[in-house]
Amino acid sequence: MNNDQWHMSKRFSASACGKIILFGEHAVVYGRPAIAVPVTQVQATATVEPGEHGLFVHAADIDRSVAVDSANSNDPLVAIVNLTLAQLNCPRPDLEITIRSTIPIASGLGSGAAVSTAIARALAQWCGARLDDAEVNALVYEVEKLHHGTPSGIDNTVIVYQQPVYFTRGQAIQTFTAARPFMVAIGNTGVASSTRNTVGDVRKGWEIDRARYEAWFDRIGAIVQRARSAIEYGAIERLGPLLDQNQVLLRDLDVSSVELERLIFAARQAGASGAKLVGGGRGGNVIALVDDRNVEAVTTALKDAGAVGVIVTEIQ
Ligand code: MEV
Repeated sequence: MNNDQWHMSKRFSASACGKIILFGEHAVVYGRPAIAVPVTQVQATATVEPGEHGLFVHAADIDRSVAVDSANSNDPLVAIVNLTLAQLNCPRPDLEITIRSTIPIASGLGSGAAVSTAIARALAQWCGARLDDAEVNALVYEVEKLHHGTPSGIDNTVIVYQQPVYFTRGQAIQTFTAARPFMVAIGNTGVASSTRNTVGDVRKGWEIDRARYEAWFDRIGAIVQRARSAIEYGAIERLGPLLDQNQVLLRDLDVSSVELERLIFAARQAGASGAKLVGGGRGGNVIALVDDRNVEAVTTALKDAGAVGVIVTEIQ
């Protein structure tokens, strides 16, 4: 076996984390800033191994397999494979690509962007090539358009760079470290909700009454600016009320739901100093600002109120 044959008979894996948007979802699509952080407790992993009869992607957790061919080039799993091979000038190989993920689908934790990131990186290794973060980010953003229609680019950015980011569409990425670490509990309603639908509905509302929506987006943008300075000054006590204010505006945008509100209420009752939905909304996850004194009570309260899973993560 020559060197090339040996390389191509091997199996290659790459992983990518989940993410949460602390402040600013939806308004970020319309050019306002947002703050997002990686969630490393959940991961998507892609494994690439030699196949025999074509190129396939298997999403093992949801029992779905797709053949990578021109008939389904708008399928996000197919698109990321085609885009990556084209970017690397890599001939189309016979391969089996298997995805395993602990990131709940359609839950605001960036599952789609994480799967694309893991596939692009594993495939690059298999091709014996290197893709830098900016290149992966550009490829994953293209696929996010298939997932979301009009994505801001925040999900792919935070996941590809695996760093807390201040993000404004079209501007250079700014990563950050919190002046004082803080903790959030992430509670999953268990309700799957498509970001494409919520983003699409917000757009319909915006088209009907632009002035009203632009005013809401401005208010969300102002909350993001205040949250940014609180994080930079270590004034964590200011973040709770800002989460609550952001949630009021997300309610105005009509992207909350009974299940989300139930979890938010329960977290607040148990001592969280603020809480909001994360991501597209109408399902998926909430975050609640917690500290050492109330984290257990908030976790229990979220579960008692119906959360199907709770993750506690520290933002540094
Ligand atoms: C989805 O995680 C966040 C949204 O703001 C959409 C986007 O930014 O592309 C709802």
